[in-house]
Amino acid sequence: MLAKNKTFQRLVGGGFLEQMGVNMLSRMQLWQMGTHKDPALIKFFKKIRRERKSLVTAREMFMVYSMSKSQADRPGDFAEVGVYQGSTARIMCEIKGDKRLRLFDTFEGLPKDSDKDPGVHRERQYACSVESVSKYLEAFPNISYHKGLFPDSTHDVPDADYAFVHFDVDLYEGTKACLEYFYPKMIPGGIMMSHDYSLLEGVKTAFTEFLADKPETVIELPETQCMVIKL
Ligand SMILES: C[S@@+](CC[C@H](N)C(=O)[O-])C[C@H]1O[C@@H](n2cnc3c(N)ncnc32)[C@H](O)[C@@H]1O
Repeated sequence: MLAKNKTFQRLVGGGFLEQMGVNMLSRMQLWQMGTHKDPALIKFFKKIRRERKSLVTAREMFMVYSMSKSQADRPGDFAEVGVYQGSTARIMCEIKGDKRLRLFDTFEGLPKDSDKDPGVHRERQYACSVESVSKYLEAFPNISYHKGLFPDSTHDVPDADYAFVHFDVDLYEGTKACLEYFYPKMIPGGIMMSHDYSLLEGVKTAFTEFLADKPETVIELPETQCMVIKL
């Protein structure tokens, strides 16, 4: 566990206390961002936070928004693995226009963790049905839902190029599978971003191991996220 106090993480990890902490922090972040960012964007983030539960902070939402925007006019699809109630997917929808967005999730919560994970998560944590997410995003075109364990859920997905992909699966095996599947499919300059890189040991290990023999390096961001730009 990268965070200093593992017992504390176990107690609050993904539960009511963590959600409350993220909400309080996000309120402060939104107030601070409101002093210099587009007011409409702040309003948009506040709306998503009211509508859906998420452990993604307001600044992390901004990073997903900003990276999506930077890739929106480039060739290639968007994808997300780890959708939960659809907060970050909603942000990608706002930006993507007619682009294809593929959403991958068990829609039954987290799978079992491995010995490379810190042991702070429970199986089936963050379950949300595909029906609930597809209703939330029903106004947006060209979204496909891929229910099941990633990467098994990719078997009927057509080969495609990707401009921006967002990973938020919390665990080592899932993150490694995301990197293996998407890396060869990213356009040059395409962005792979992940939540929890500096918070969850399994996520960081997956990036470190995967990039060991690649020319790209990981770019760590100020909150828990990281990104890789495909060369
Ligand atoms: C923390 S939640 C995602 C949060 C979301 N991005 C948001 O905006 O709030 C993690 C999600 O990853 C999914 N997940 C984890 N490992 C997976 C895997 N190997 N295949 C499919 N879904 C997975 C879980 O079902 C859960 O919905």
